[in-house]
Amino acid sequence: MTERTFSILKPDATRRNLTGKINAVIEDAGLRIVAQKRIHMSKAQAEKFYEIHKERPFFGELVEFMTSAPVVVQVLEGADAVAKYREVMGATNPAQAADGTIRKLFAESVGENSVHGSDSQDNAKIEIAQFFTDAEIVG
Ligand code: CMP
Repeated sequence: MTERTFSILKPDATRRNLTGKINAVIEDAGLRIVAQKRIHMSKAQAEKFYEIHKERPFFGELVEFMTSAPVVVQVLEGADAVAKYREVMGATNPAQAADGTIRKLFAESVGENSVHGSDSQDNAKIEIAQFFTDAEIVG
């Protein structure tokens, strides 16, 4: 079924000029980038986005990292986009990521892991709505 997922190209990726290379992996996998913008996340935006992790020991570090440089927020569309993008990203920890995945190719560590993708369709809708209006998404 055609669906949408939310993606972030994280600060470690923008810093190393990897946004084009990562987009090529996304597009080669058959996912369409139907919205995209480069933003510098505020602390409030990052804290809201990662609210679910606020009791985790790495929360402060995560918010600091995500606000340390620009990110590219995206909406990806395609068949089973949520699961498909998780497959394309690879495991959260790049040491465990499969060959050919974005994290295997580019990620530096479990924290600086180049990309975020929604973990469910419900969360995709919530995450997309935090960063995009309907008019900004051109499918
Ligand atoms: P993401 O998919 O963006 O969602 C939560 C993020 O927390 C995750 O990717 C990682 O970047 C980060 N994260 C998970 N585990 C750790 C950890 N042990 N230390 C630092 N960051 C982590």
